[in-house]
Amino acid sequence: MTDPLAPFFLGAYGENNDFFEKTLLELVRDHVYWRRNFHPEDEPPIDTHDQYTRAYLDGLARTRHELHQLTAALKRSVPSFHPRYLGHMVSDLLLPGLIAQLVTTLYNPNNIVEDVAPITVQLELEVGRQLARMLGMSVDPNHEPCALGHLTSGGTVANDEALWLARCSRLYPLALRDACAAVGAWVPDIPVHPGSTDLELLALGADEVLAMSRRVAVFCTGDPRGPELFAALTAARVEELGLATFADRHPSLKRLAVVVPATAHYSWYKAMKLLGLGAGNLVSVPVDDARLDGAELEAALAGLRREERPVLAVVGVYGTTEFGTLDSIHELVEVRQRFPGFWLHVDAAWGGYLPTLFRDRHGDLLPREAVRKDFRYFPSERVHQATAALAEADSVTVDPHKLGFVPFGAGALVVRNRRVLDLVQQEAPYVFTSPPEEDDRRYRALGRYVLEGSKPGAAAAACYVNHRVLPLDHDHFGRILARSVQTCEHLVDRVPSLKQDLAPWARLSIPFEPDCNLVCLAVNPNGNRSLRAANAFGHRLFETMDVQPGQPVQLKEFFGSCTTVPLDHLGAAERARIGEELQLDVDTPDDDGLFLLRHTLMNPWLQASPGPGEPSYVEAYCHFLVRQVKALVESA
Ligand SMILES: Cc1ncc(COP(=O)(O)O)c(C=O)c1O
Repeated sequence: MTDPLAPFFLGAYGENNDFFEKTLLELVRDHVYWRRNFHPEDEPPIDTHDQYTRAYLDGLARTRHELHQLTAALKRSVPSFHPRYLGHMVSDLLLPGLIAQLVTTLYNPNNIVEDVAPITVQLELEVGRQLARMLGMSVDPNHEPCALGHLTSGGTVANDEALWLARCSRLYPLALRDACAAVGAWVPDIPVHPGSTDLELLALGADEVLAMSRRVAVFCTGDPRGPELFAALTAARVEELGLATFADRHPSLKRLAVVVPATAHYSWYKAMKLLGLGAGNLVSVPVDDARLDGAELEAALAGLRREERPVLAVVGVYGTTEFGTLDSIHELVEVRQRFPGFWLHVDAAWGGYLPTLFRDRHGDLLPREAVRKDFRYFPSERVHQATAALAEADSVTVDPHKLGFVPFGAGALVVRNRRVLDLVQQEAPYVFTSPPEEDDRRYRALGRYVLEGSKPGAAAAACYVNHRVLPLDHDHFGRILARSVQTCEHLVDRVPSLKQDLAPWARLSIPFEPDCNLVCLAVNPNGNRSLRAANAFGHRLFETMDVQPGQPVQLKEFFGSCTTVPLDHLGAAERARIGEELQLDVDTPDDDGLFLLRHTLMNPWLQASPGPGEPSYVEAYCHFLVRQVKALVESA
């Protein structure tokens, strides 16, 4: 039976090269004809005779030489396309998107604004709608809130932008109250009154703030005091004053907190520094088994409330970078009812495409049983609920360049209520030559509303074509994710016998039951109780599957990745279990963390075998591990 995923990747052996080459050539020629037919009456600016001169040929030769040098050097690249690669969050690329990206680059559209990218800006906004629907958000422009998604260069920038939007919207009511007081004009029917305190205003939810900002806009254009209020409001906002002056006026904001799980990606520290919020105000909540739940969050928020520290945003992670675990987003949503006001962002840079497994062709959420029939364990009830709750987040980061299988340079931010973008609108008369339009067409001037400026339209084309060929639902894109999760289950099921295979030399443990498609393993040589020694052994083991600069990649059998889990990420029970399984002293540890081999199981052919009668790549990897552990122990 034909593998349904086979037509969609170039393949470890370049199996689809014929299609790839032919289509690319056809589309490159098509592009050249487009150039020629633009104004065929014009003389070509490059004289044909020149093309036969020595200087000209020399130019071509130098180009060719350098390109060959480049591609020769690139042969030492990491072979992330291959099922022998189980390392970082990258794999073979989806062929439709790859071709779309290569070909669109020839047209070089800049998605900063529709004037310079009339086609690909539309594609980017459509990709945003596709992602928003996948997350369960409404994209109906006739109903508030209407979601909007757009592409970024990656997850880091999407996270930066989310925090920027959170700050903008959460502090807006405070500025409005200051402006109304200064002008002596109060906008009717909004929850901002002369007596409103900072704390009351900070308890307003995102939709309330954004509805308020719409009413204020109407007042500012319709009321005789409007222009004066508008000027005062602009002057009173944090965007104008800067955080230091704003906090002088609102002293409770001096230690404005952003709450993240201890497993959060390091980009959150960068975001805090960048926005002037201070990395020291990133409140990292301890997690039990690398998952944040409602109780942990609630305890952290209660503590901050006692300290009278307002919370700007809470971040949940849907797919932690190091362990692939998913936070209980539904519980975070629930906690927001008791601690109203915070901006809820979900960092789903890694797990963002998993919801394709949960959505039918109409975008409806499938019941857990319907998803479960393709798997042995996935999805747990908790994971199903966490997925359903993504729609309630104020913003979500999704990385197409991870589980969306497109080339790097494609992250995405989806906001549940696009009105928030109006609050960050930035004018630039040379780019945005007409005033913002009133209806939803205005977001086509993307650069006016998003953090980045010039943006590759080619990335939008790649995502768009992929999502058209494989719509973001269970029966299409979901099949790729299903394969990945099934591979993970396969490896997890293999662990008990792998433990036996390793028993003469070492002990093995899975520190966290995987929630999806990333699994970590910890190894300790027999007889060792020292955490530090186990970690040193793990490092040596990892070196056998790490890229060594200067060494041909063909010498490696497998590629992996690694991380270290701090012991305080492990709950007491987990810690005791892992200590017992590995026979390690975790009560009086001589190191802070435990070294882990980390496997992102993205490649769709990990369960295929390298040859007839040979075991699958996953199985071969297990054999490889046993051989390496044996060799390391015996050489010690
Ligand atoms: C959860 C999470 N957030 C953010 C990022 C940052 O994404 P990028 O590397 O695309 O900037 C990553 C990257 O691995 C991630 O796993």
